[in-house]
Amino acid sequence: MSLPIVEMLAAEKTFPGGVQALAPVELSVRPGELIGLIGPSGCGKSTLLKLIANLHTPSAGEMRWWGEDFTRVGEAGRRLSFVFQDPTLMPWADVATNVRLPLDLDGIPRDEARARVAPALAQVGLSHAADRTPAQLSGGMRMRVSIARALVTRPDLLLMDEPFAALDEFTRNRLDEDMALLCAQGGLTTIFVTHSLTEAAFLSTRVLVMAPDPGRIHAEYAIDPTIVRDEAFRLSAEFAAICRDLSALLNEVSHARAAADA
Ligand SMILES: Nc1ncnc2c1ncn2[C@@H]1O[C@H](COP(=O)(O)OP(=O)(O)OP(=O)(O)O)[C@@H](O)[C@H]1O
Ligand SMILES: [Mg+2]
Repeated sequence: MSLPIVEMLAAEKTFPGGVQALAPVELSVRPGELIGLIGPSGCGKSTLLKLIANLHTPSAGEMRWWGEDFTRVGEAGRRLSFVFQDPTLMPWADVATNVRLPLDLDGIPRDEARARVAPALAQVGLSHAADRTPAQLSGGMRMRVSIARALVTRPDLLLMDEPFAALDEFTRNRLDEDMALLCAQGGLTTIFVTHSLTEAAFLSTRVLVMAPDPGRIHAEYAIDPTIVRDEAFRLSAEFAAICRDLSALLNEVSHARAAADA
């Protein structure tokens, strides 16, 4: 079996003030996986993602990157990109310049950086919009720019926190289909947080159902990675069965919370 990209070994997070956002988590992320995180608000989904991104340090336990402790690998050694719900583009700069930003920040020579922007834009279907400014784009296109900006650094791991939550259902479904294709063709490993059970069912090769108080992984649900994620899959009995299973797991979590609150 291939080495995991990232491992959480009993990694937990308690914030100053005593909120235990995450009880010890064991997680191993293998190349090519598309992992969906679902669970009620406050169950630690964003905290888990931020531990992996090293935006938070664990209160206890260990984080490993390709088998080595995070502290040994260092920031530059961890090739990952983070996409948030808000695309946060520079409004005065055109699409190509926005996508090029992380390369400019890394000091990549301008010619090389320019050469890498075109394929990243092609990957998200935005080759025709390189010269536009963010104000001239739809919400879905702005999100595509944000994804291209994440891909241009060729990360080993892509993290997305509710990336498509602000988009209408039609746009969201299109982006989900394109993401599935990108991951399948490019071997891109992704962990994404979503409040949409159907989105998790559609995209994931593994779904982690999280529970609150304290935040933890309640259940893992594997989905055949060889399934082609397209419109036919969305309409299939198999997809409906996956959604039913995930719904039942989420019910377990919310019933546990209701019982605790009673
Ligand atoms: N910086 C922080 N300081 C203190 N407590 C925090 C901090 N960030 C998160 N928390 C707490 O940790 C718990 C988990 O928060 P987190 O944001 O990870 O949840 P989430 O599952 O992403 O929720 P949502 O679905 O609403 O985005 C919550 O109780 C939250 O209030
Ligand atoms: Mg969150």
